[in-house]
Amino acid sequence: MCGIVGFTGTKQAAPILLDGLSKLEYRGYDSAGIAVRDGEKPAEVIKEKGKLKVLADMTNQGKAVKGTCGIGHTRWATHGEPSAVNAHPHSSDDGNVIGVHNGIIENYQEQREKLIKKGYEFKSQTDTEVAVKLVDYYYKKYSQDPIEAIARAMVRIRGSYALCVMFKDFPGEIYCARKDSPMIIGIADGESYVASDVPAILKYTRNVYYIGNMEIAKLEKGNVTFYNIDSEVIEKPLTEIKWDAESAEKGGYEHFMLKEIHEQPKVIRDTINSVVTDGKVHFDSVNLTDDEMKSIDQIYIVACGSAYHVGMDLQYVIESLTSLQVRVELASEFRYRDMSLRKNSLVIVISQSGETADTLAALRMAKDNGVKTLGIVNVVGSSIAREADNVFYTLAGPEISVATTKAYSCQLVAGYLLALQFAKAREEITDEHYNELLAEINTIPEKIEKILENKERLQWYSNKLINITDAFFIGRGIDYAIGLEGSLKLKEISYIHSEAYAAGELKHGPISLIEDGTIVLSVVTQTKLIEKTISNMVEVKSRGAKVMAVTTAGNYFLEDTAEFVCYIPQIEPLFAGSLSVVPLQLISYYVSIGKGFDVDKPRNLAKSVTVE
Ligand code: F6R
Repeated sequence: MCGIVGFTGTKQAAPILLDGLSKLEYRGYDSAGIAVRDGEKPAEVIKEKGKLKVLADMTNQGKAVKGTCGIGHTRWATHGEPSAVNAHPHSSDDGNVIGVHNGIIENYQEQREKLIKKGYEFKSQTDTEVAVKLVDYYYKKYSQDPIEAIARAMVRIRGSYALCVMFKDFPGEIYCARKDSPMIIGIADGESYVASDVPAILKYTRNVYYIGNMEIAKLEKGNVTFYNIDSEVIEKPLTEIKWDAESAEKGGYEHFMLKEIHEQPKVIRDTINSVVTDGKVHFDSVNLTDDEMKSIDQIYIVACGSAYHVGMDLQYVIESLTSLQVRVELASEFRYRDMSLRKNSLVIVISQSGETADTLAALRMAKDNGVKTLGIVNVVGSSIAREADNVFYTLAGPEISVATTKAYSCQLVAGYLLALQFAKAREEITDEHYNELLAEINTIPEKIEKILENKERLQWYSNKLINITDAFFIGRGIDYAIGLEGSLKLKEISYIHSEAYAAGELKHGPISLIEDGTIVLSVVTQTKLIEKTISNMVEVKSRGAKVMAVTTAGNYFLEDTAEFVCYIPQIEPLFAGSLSVVPLQLISYYVSIGKGFDVDKPRNLAKSVTVE
């Protein structure tokens, strides 16, 4: 939610800021702004409601704004409606401090009232303006030292923030502070960068520092100094980013979502190869030993949104392959649940961004309870990756489209490998079965390629769905878990009301919504349950529903019931979710673009939900 960038160097800052913001627009896109300083002169602030293009046009792509040091912001509104006044940067009344912020200041009302009593006036409804003015207040009250002023403000502020500020008295310098919101700092020859996420600066540098929680950084041209909350200088290791810059570009595809759907075979293969060598899963990099796997008797999978749907699928896989009990929990519920966690349990948190506020809080809650944690995370160096006891990195690369596809698929495959290794370590699987299942997992990338080769047929079918107002996804077991994801994909990017139900639940209520022409998308891959699901399809069809099915090649008899059938290649049913989700991703994509929506940036959504 919200993207920030900053640059100080010898080049013109505004085009760099706009370019960086364009890579972060997935984090928020209701308004944008920049503040740029030309030497000693006061900063020029330009901000406007609307997508980044509005700001780019206003500034002639940044060329109209002179200066080599600046900060920028793309906003996803939390406090105050999207408007030019509420857009960042915000500044103190006299322009002494100018700042951009990502996160939420929870006690902003209380701080705002205190500042009003001290004579401050507020132009916007944002919590950010409060943070900026608080820094200004401490700067003027004490030693006029930026680090000390920021540290004092940090102690007073409750909530989460990635904050970048410039002080009038310190031209060419940017000061940054972080707590629970993502922020990285990049360095190149004579240039320093700060951003919410790597793609914003990847074009300029691969050398980054990860600034920790409750830490402060001072950026000068080509030099960065880090401080702890006691204003003491601290050292940080420099990390080299391995992603190539092209992976954060559209690479000839019309949209990031379509590109990311097509990247699935490759990134799944990379994720498998990261832990599978010589026909065996090796978890040395994950740091989870066989003895630990043996001692665990309960798994909690905790996540939000699509990552939660991965957990829903994995519970069937893990419970089928091992004697482990698996509970899948929404992070926003789990974190506030008054319950005792079983001592020998493992909490697996799944997150693409590694920054989702609720998932991070759930992880911390588990750790506070003395329970072992494992993160399945995509973004290297993210908060969850840093705080979890063990990390299994998915190698999806940067995912730009707000609706997840390739990260979801990598999480799912990472979970299969985990399940398999649990079964092996606990001696609950024969070597033969282990080898068979691993061989099946290895076939997933090429089978997804086959599905993608037939996408035109799905596009043709999707065109028929453009004007529908409601859709239902049904399935049983793993097919139900995939229905949940298919339904979320459709609703979030095409704004069509959609619900997913365990097929057996239809008769307990939702069937009353079925009428002439209602669309029911069924996922039918679980061999043991096919007949049961077909009965449910027949029930809705006889009440007027138009039924489509995603099923495994060979189940041609489904054509007797469904008006459109999409076949996926044959695969061990435990892993069918990796294939059946792909046609559902494509259908959602085609419906969204058919309706003329901005598929990569659906309304009201942000890629990384760093507020609860
Ligand atoms: C939906 C989607 C979201 C995320 C959710 C969790 O397409 O992308 O539902 O899955 O916000 O995000 P991460 O995985 O970053 O924790």
